[in-house]
Amino acid sequence: MKIAIINGPNLNLLGKRETGIYGEIAFETYLAELRRKYPQVNFHYYQSNIEGELVNELQRVGYDYDGIILNPAAYTHTSVAIGDAIAAITTPVVEVHISNVHAREDFRKLSHVSGKSTGSIIGLGLKGYELALQYLTAREK
Ligand code: DQA
Repeated sequence: MKIAIINGPNLNLLGKRETGIYGEIAFETYLAELRRKYPQVNFHYYQSNIEGELVNELQRVGYDYDGIILNPAAYTHTSVAIGDAIAAITTPVVEVHISNVHAREDFRKLSHVSGKSTGSIIGLGLKGYELALQYLTAREK
């Protein structure tokens, strides 16, 4: 089973970025744990700070992977292009946000991604990625 995890801008700074909101664990550390726990899953990890690169990656993995776990970070709230890319591809996408965006600034309440995704997991910390993975691996095709 092939699962892509795609992280947007500033998520390369997890562990040192606003740790009160995003926690103290680097994503690579968390991913190593996921790889250990789910040896049956073939993980592909991609992170970019650039909107068009995220669109390119969604297009690249979006037709033959079994699932995509996507945290578009700030582009969630601004990117029509990422929303359109999700609508264009056939692989199911689960949107994940580490923080509860609905409990933060008003501009974070708008998502161009939620309405195009299979579902969203919001505010459950890094655990959200694992919950998305469990959904995608258990899902009937
Ligand atoms: C985030 C929430 C976004 O509003 C923010 O811009 C991020 C991270 C989250 O995972 O909580 O960079 O997507």
